[in-house]
Amino acid sequence: MPNIIKAQTEEQFNDIGAGIIASLLQSNPKALLGLATGSTPVGVYKRLVELFNEGSVSFAQAQSYNLDEYVGLPADHPESYRRFMDDKLFSLVDILPENTHVPPGSDPDPQQAAAEYTKLLERAGRIDLQILGVGHNGHIGFNEPGEELEGFTHVVTLDESTRKANARFFNSIDEVPVQAITMGIASILHAKQILLMARGADKAEIIARALQGPVTTECPASLLQTHPNVIVLVDQEAGRLI
Ligand code: GLP
Repeated sequence: MPNIIKAQTEEQFNDIGAGIIASLLQSNPKALLGLATGSTPVGVYKRLVELFNEGSVSFAQAQSYNLDEYVGLPADHPESYRRFMDDKLFSLVDILPENTHVPPGSDPDPQQAAAEYTKLLERAGRIDLQILGVGHNGHIGFNEPGEELEGFTHVVTLDESTRKANARFFNSIDEVPVQAITMGIASILHAKQILLMARGADKAEIIARALQGPVTTECPASLLQTHPNVIVLVDQEAGRLI
């Protein structure tokens, strides 16, 4: 059973999420962090930046590996995940740019770029803490539901529902990339510890399916049930059914 934490307020949610990451860095300054984008971790990263500014945490020796990236957006595109991470965390703390890794979605050969990211992860060793959000369809990273899931970093075609959900960040759905590079399920499950975060009433159903439903590739987040060290951080709304 995962350790489930239900935050009472947004502030508490962000405090707890940032606290988990900060404690790891305090006990293991060289930690390998698996990082996620999306709206869910934004407040957590903001709180982490505050902790850094207060002198409570340092990323100087840490390494980060992000879960996923859109294919075809230049790295400095406002909606690329590289830009998201630079703007919301990396440029605001003391992590060394060369220690931050995001799958290179603008590489002209995304398949090759994905294979190289797998090698990079293998060389890095086990991620100490993998941060995850969850899509409404149960995707983690960009591992979309289906009959099969891939283990390692690969190129995916995004579900229409995912493109619609993410269209809010673009001018129109036509601008949302069709493909992405994502870490695979085996790489995610290889992490020593996983922190799954979800907020809002629209995530209640998928959180219940992920944690209490059958373990199935049709709900990639349900595979987290097979991991021995998962913390689930939800707000009251997302945790309503668990
Ligand atoms: C996105 C990302 C995921 C993220 C999820 C939820 O498409 N690829 O890594 O966890 O969808 O996003 P949000 O936190 O905005 O709900």
